[in-house]
Amino acid sequence: MERENLPEMVRGAGRNMLMGQAMDLLDSVLDYKELMMNYACAIKEINTKFEVLDTEFEVRYKRNPISSIQTRLKSQTSILEKMARLGVPPTRENIEYHLNDIAGIRVICSYIDDIYLLADALTKQDDIKLIKRKDYISNPKPNGYRSLHLIVSVPIFFAESVKEVKAEVQIRTIAMDFWASLEHQIKYKKNVEHAEKVIARLKDCAEEIAHVDETMQEIRIEMDSIKEETTDVETLYEKLKKININLI
Ligand code: GTP
Ligand code: MG
Repeated sequence: MERENLPEMVRGAGRNMLMGQAMDLLDSVLDYKELMMNYACAIKEINTKFEVLDTEFEVRYKRNPISSIQTRLKSQTSILEKMARLGVPPTRENIEYHLNDIAGIRVICSYIDDIYLLADALTKQDDIKLIKRKDYISNPKPNGYRSLHLIVSVPIFFAESVKEVKAEVQIRTIAMDFWASLEHQIKYKKNVEHAEKVIARLKDCAEEIAHVDETMQEIRIEMDSIKEETTDVETLYEKLKKININLI
């Protein structure tokens, strides 16, 4: 070996090592991207299922049980934090096994009854498996938090394979969502003076909000039960209005 060729050879070896490391890094980033794709597709599937139910209700009963839908994919930081909290190495298998909330779908309804109606309509679909159901409406959290949580899995049909993917569905009323959003912001404020008083006041607000939800529900049931005398022309007009509903 010629002495003067040595620096060139070292550079060559170093370059090969760097390329190897870059390839490994890219492979693990691409593997992570593929994992996230599964969850992104689960969000799309479940989102569509709720949109279908809402459209069906609009056409059949001229009302929308869903006020809005929010979706989110858990961030890489949150995934790593949660795996660290669980004390489990963040491998792909462990992430898939231990985390249920990488795909998150939040459905905001007008009325309490709509929450259960939508939850039942979703979970009775043949392809949906219910893994866990937590009813924080009939059993609110001690701080006053209310929502219906479902952990489900849905099959995702790819070109060459089918994959069962888990998702967390939170269903709540507009009022419950209003409370949870504000409580979430307040909770993260540090060094709050009289923290217990704030917690107690938030809980009082949650109770008041729950009362408003129940009253609104009662009013709607009462209104629905009123049988109105309708003329033929009015019935015809109602049918015409249904025909005018935009489907897309
Ligand atoms: P996480 O580890 O946070 O996912 O909780 P968990 O696995 O015990 O599930 P849980 O059903 O209790 O909560 C899941 C999600 O519900 C949270 O990530 C929040 O989005 C929401 N949530 C639960 N409790 C509260 C609460 O007290 N306040 C607010 N604002 N949101 C809550
Ligand atoms: Mg969570």
